Amino acid sequence: MSERQTLPSWQKLTQLAQQKKSQHMNTLFAQDSERFNKFSVELPKLLLDYSKNRIDSETMTSLFALADETEVAAWREKMFAGEKINKTENRAVLHTALRGSCDKNLVVDGKNVTEQVEAQWQKMESFVNKVRQGHWLGYSGKRITDIVNIGVGGSNLGPQMVTEALKHYSDNSVNVHYVSNVDGAQIVEILRPLDPEKVLFIVSSKTFTTTETMTNAKTAIKWLTASSFDESAVAKHFVAVTANKENAMKFGIEADNIFEMWDWVGGRFSLWSAIGLPIALDLGFEQFKALLNGAHEMDEHFINAPFEENMPVIMALLSVWNTTFLGFQSQAILPYDQTLHMLSAYLQQAEMESNGKSVSWDGKKIAYPTVPSIWGELGINGQHAFYQYLHQSNNIVPADFIGSVASVTPVKGHHETLMANFFAQTQALMTGVNEAQVRADLKAKGRSDEYIDMVAPHKVHQGNRPTNTLLLKRIDPVTLGNLIALYEHKIFVQGIILQICSFDQWGVELGKGLAAKIQQELETKEISAEHDCSTDSLLRYYLSAK
Ligand code: F6P
Repeated sequence: MSERQTLPSWQKLTQLAQQKKSQHMNTLFAQDSERFNKFSVELPKLLLDYSKNRIDSETMTSLFALADETEVAAWREKMFAGEKINKTENRAVLHTALRGSCDKNLVVDGKNVTEQVEAQWQKMESFVNKVRQGHWLGYSGKRITDIVNIGVGGSNLGPQMVTEALKHYSDNSVNVHYVSNVDGAQIVEILRPLDPEKVLFIVSSKTFTTTETMTNAKTAIKWLTASSFDESAVAKHFVAVTANKENAMKFGIEADNIFEMWDWVGGRFSLWSAIGLPIALDLGFEQFKALLNGAHEMDEHFINAPFEENMPVIMALLSVWNTTFLGFQSQAILPYDQTLHMLSAYLQQAEMESNGKSVSWDGKKIAYPTVPSIWGELGINGQHAFYQYLHQSNNIVPADFIGSVASVTPVKGHHETLMANFFAQTQALMTGVNEAQVRADLKAKGRSDEYIDMVAPHKVHQGNRPTNTLLLKRIDPVTLGNLIALYEHKIFVQGIILQICSFDQWGVELGKGLAAKIQQELETKEISAEHDCSTDSLLRYYLSAK
């Protein structure tokens, strides 16, 4: 038994989970008309209703006790104070400093954090203004019209998700494109219509070693210099964002064109740093700062609100309750706002790369389920695709429903239809419909007894499926900053409770190393004897079929 499992709150929650497994939320709602008031939190631009979970006051009290017993508050303090809580990499975790949420005197590795951040803000602002106002010119003297961001994982998903979400706030001074896949099909399609004289590339890579990014960046350089006939054009068309300045310079990026990030910013938490440069180029620096301010607001809430009213803490506790105690192994992210169409892809990396682990921070095997697999899609599209599974499969998938009170693109009649579905789905997932109700309904419609007997079992919905509802006032840079930081802190709290080092990602290394070896074998056509017979045969088939 691990240390966590010996905690009084853990043991209590284990008992409660047994009861709650057989209790229907319909009963809980019938017993307590105050559930919404008890189990919701309202912030100025964001409401969380978590009453449609298999919880009651006793469950929540025990969950809050778990947060106390696992010392969430002390760990939160350590994170904001710049302690090296990323133990396996011996690094501080300070993405919050990128939005001004740290002590102005904080020093990490001998350098003042705020001064470093502010220097990069200044550099970004001046660069962004030059490009957007047409003062930064390409090699032939033309203004930049298109930005191509080359990066993958955290150096892509965050900025691209935000660019998509805030599209309506762009004045189209420049067009922003994203290349992440090493499949040449993507970069070719993006570059085909562009004019090399007017394109600016951002090579975004914390490590500046990632194969996919380096391969795409080399192709981009070739494409540019095929047009300019001169390598000196690279200085006018390439900038980099990295924590590895040396590698970026070796690659051929001018020192002045390099924006800095630091070891204390994890890739998947880095959109607030210069990794967010494409966002700032698209929206202007003011709006980028508004996004940071939105995240700062959530930092303040996370630091100051008591656990009972603390949105990220509550969401983390519910995730642990649903996954570790009730045993639900996946979670759906279902935005009902078109602008958030990349949110589930973004959260997949944020949560699964952070907490998808089975060894505790002190190197011991974890004996309990940790985090669910995260998946999702725009909810309204999902309704016509996989919601059948959400409503009636044997697997229960807790879901976050995310919608907005006002649309950024109001079109008469559309928003009400969208939101009617949003509210209907969480109600249906919770209440379900039992066989007696199905039969009565069919009878009232004049159906024959024979037909009712045949169809009734298929129309039963068990319900009792947990959901959180997040209702934003309206998507804008500030609310989006609120939302992203909410999930970041949720992930942090989950990690603390589950005893996971959330800020490393050793699980991506094994495949990377093997791929590098296999790439050599494919190039030399000499297959090593080290492979298993499946991989060996696949490689031989591939080479002979080429
Ligand atoms: O392979 C996973 C990963 O290391 C992520 O953690 C990271 O966000 C991504 O690759 C990209 O890394 P980099 O920014 O160093 O290119």
